[in-house]
Amino acid sequence: MKPQFWILPLVVGSIPSCTPVAHPTPFKIDVDQGLLDEARTKAKLYRPSVDLLDGTSETWYEGPPASNMTALAKYWAEEYDWLKIQDQLNSNHSHYKATVSAGFGYQEPVPLHFVHEKSTRPNAIPLLLLHGWPSTHMEWLPALDYLTSPDPDDAEAVAFDVIVPDLPGFGFSPAATHEGFGPRQAGAALTNLMQLLGYETFGIISTDAGWWVALWMAADYPDRVVGHFTDFYFAQPNATDIERFGNGQTSDAENDYISTVLAFQNVVGAYMSIQSQGPLKLGQALTDSPVGYAGWIWHHLQFSSDGYHYSFEEVITRTMMLWLPGAYGNLRTYLEWLKPENIDFPKSDVATGVSQWQSINGPFPELALMLNTPAEWIERVSNLTFLVTRPFGGHFPVELHPEIYAQDVQEFFGSLID
Ligand SMILES: *[C@@H]1O[C@H](CO)[C@@H](O)[C@H](O)[C@H]1NC(C)=O
Ligand SMILES: *[C@@H]1O[C@H](CO)[C@@H](O)[C@H](O)[C@H]1NC(C)=O
Ligand SMILES: *[C@@H]1O[C@H](CO)[C@@H](O)[C@H](O)[C@H]1NC(C)=O
Ligand SMILES: *[C@@H]1O[C@H](CO)[C@@H](O)[C@H](O)[C@H]1NC(C)=O
Repeated sequence: MKPQFWILPLVVGSIPSCTPVAHPTPFKIDVDQGLLDEARTKAKLYRPSVDLLDGTSETWYEGPPASNMTALAKYWAEEYDWLKIQDQLNSNHSHYKATVSAGFGYQEPVPLHFVHEKSTRPNAIPLLLLHGWPSTHMEWLPALDYLTSPDPDDAEAVAFDVIVPDLPGFGFSPAATHEGFGPRQAGAALTNLMQLLGYETFGIISTDAGWWVALWMAADYPDRVVGHFTDFYFAQPNATDIERFGNGQTSDAENDYISTVLAFQNVVGAYMSIQSQGPLKLGQALTDSPVGYAGWIWHHLQFSSDGYHYSFEEVITRTMMLWLPGAYGNLRTYLEWLKPENIDFPKSDVATGVSQWQSINGPFPELALMLNTPAEWIERVSNLTFLVTRPFGGHFPVELHPEIYAQDVQEFFGSLID
């Protein structure tokens, strides 16, 4: 029996606590061999689609071409080695699991897997790293050493203790079992996790779906969140903006942003609608076909990643991390996250740093300026104190440029403690 206790109500933003929680215990990743065999067998039996004969398929606009998918399935069936990756995950970092309560109406226990690494320096800032979809805690791994162990010659460098969870339904955190686990409930659960680890106050870095959670944490626990750094600020144009845009009254920066958001919706954004409206039917197909799920994810990587050429191993590992727990749980995040009440973020005074990265080298020119959100739009909801824009990096910048990413994070949090 794991020791269980009841979390005391927090001082700030009272979290209703009615489910028992379990203390963090070390966790070893050990995926059932039956699941690995199932994936390999299905990869061997993969039935590809066909490409059009005129080169249309090679543009990737409609999805990954059959030729690329066939090659990926062959690699999965014949060469891919999950156990090698698993050994690296286990030996590279310290993994834990814990169960916390959520609140905001969500009564079920929330079991979480997370990586926890302490800094080499005293007085490090505790930092919660929140990934999105199609990612898991693994997205942050390339940056962890830079954050925990800065250059010993740089006495001024800010250092961090990092806590890197898999959101429920991703990686090794089981999916929510009931309706109503949205970004706010996730934020409450993660605040409870930080409390359980002894961190009363902490910083956050977020991307994608993790940004939703971070914005709610900044709104609900402003005295706990010392700063929020994100590479993703998906501000929505409001009705007045659309009207001004129609009347030609928007600035150049606003025009670029609105056109890019519209292009995103019209060219590739359908996945958001399907994942938010029919996650069960999509999840059934993609859980049954791991290679199919790899194609769904690969297209996403391809259109948003600034032209980086993903290896088969990278695409498959990313897929495994979302297929192993079942596709439904992570796809369904969109249903909860996109509920109107969950995108109506309250204004927060928590200091916010934003790094904006572009996809100039990506295959879809209309998405080159994702996501250059105008500063005034960020300031509608957040207290923007740091903004940097880089003409590269795409939507997974921490994977492609971990050192630059970590430097921005250090600079932002450094500015808060000077
Ligand atoms: C798809 O396959 C073609 C032909 O092998 C190759 O040239 C191309 O780089 C592949 N695309 C990606 C994104 O891997
Ligand atoms: C483990 O660390 C090594 C050395 O830094 C790195 O090459 C490898 O990609 C890491 N593996 C994983 C799964 O993160
Ligand atoms: C849109 O946002 C701007 C800036 O905050 C505000 O002035 C305007 O009233 C908003 N329009 C609507 C319809 O909410
Ligand atoms: C925004 O954050 C900065 C840095 O922490 C702080 O000095 C400032 O007071 C904040 N602004 C508001 C309106 O709280």
